[in-house]
Amino acid sequence: MFVPARLVIDTDPGVDDAVAILMALASPDVEIVGLTTVGGNVPLARATRNALALLQAAGRSDIPVAKGASKPLRGKYAYSPQFHGPGGLSCRLPEPVATPVAEGAVQFLYDQLTFDLGETILLALGPLTNVASLLWERPIALEQAKNIVIMGGAVDTPGNVTPKAEFNFYSDPVAAEIILSSRLPVTLVDLAACRQVAISREQALGLHSEHPLGKLTLKLLQGWFKRESSRQSFEFYDPLAMAITLDPVIASVVKVDLDVGIEENWSWGETSDTGWPGTITLLQEVNAARFFRLLEGLLEIEGLPD
Ligand code: RIB
Ligand code: CA
Repeated sequence: MFVPARLVIDTDPGVDDAVAILMALASPDVEIVGLTTVGGNVPLARATRNALALLQAAGRSDIPVAKGASKPLRGKYAYSPQFHGPGGLSCRLPEPVATPVAEGAVQFLYDQLTFDLGETILLALGPLTNVASLLWERPIALEQAKNIVIMGGAVDTPGNVTPKAEFNFYSDPVAAEIILSSRLPVTLVDLAACRQVAISREQALGLHSEHPLGKLTLKLLQGWFKRESSRQSFEFYDPLAMAITLDPVIASVVKVDLDVGIEENWSWGETSDTGWPGTITLLQEVNAARFFRLLEGLLEIEGLPD
């Protein structure tokens, strides 16, 4: 009998986080065993509210949500309401009835990763504060993960917060450096990969779906474009991290050793390839057509790029 893979998602929803979560909810190949929230796109309380509201809108309030870090290991979160919208999502969702579980994110991640050793995938879509705290406080847990997939970093490509830094790593570079230097077998989806899967304003506004989760996805995606008339392209950051989790051959990869800058006013949040042999699996060439066919199949969206 086919058993879907267990998936726990650390997230700062966020429009693209929300699309990624909806992809997983629509997939028969994974079972979301929980969401852990972290500040990043929006403050922690709002990220947690958005996670609960999204699950409620998707009819999945049964999925537990555990609150995580409200501030990074050093510095402060950058927050990006200008990108995601003041509330962090680009469409209004009813206030959630459900509340977060009592245990915090670190305990929740530990419980899930050690529940069925080697059977739970961790997907990190925000700053890595919770993940680094887990490594510090309960070091064996991450070694039990079936896979650790992270959206973050900008390797040999411009950043999206500073000329060289990507938002998740910029928001907590100390946490990112701890994870990337831990020798854990991480799969990293950086900006260079994400920029290979984008959709234009015209394409996005012409999309259609009759699937309940597809309709919600389009509300988020089309709402994002409608917020700012100057927006011409949406890059599928977190959805690509979800896609490689669901379909590991959607991109070619290379093994690298990466460093994250933690010098304020110098290298803060910047990702660099050390050139040494490494254990990080970094996406390279993305099969964009395969990505859009995955999105189309899961959420029954018509009109996506060929
Ligand atoms: O740089 C893109 C990342 O930062 C995505 O995870 C997006 O949601 C923001 O958190
Ligand atoms: Ca995110």
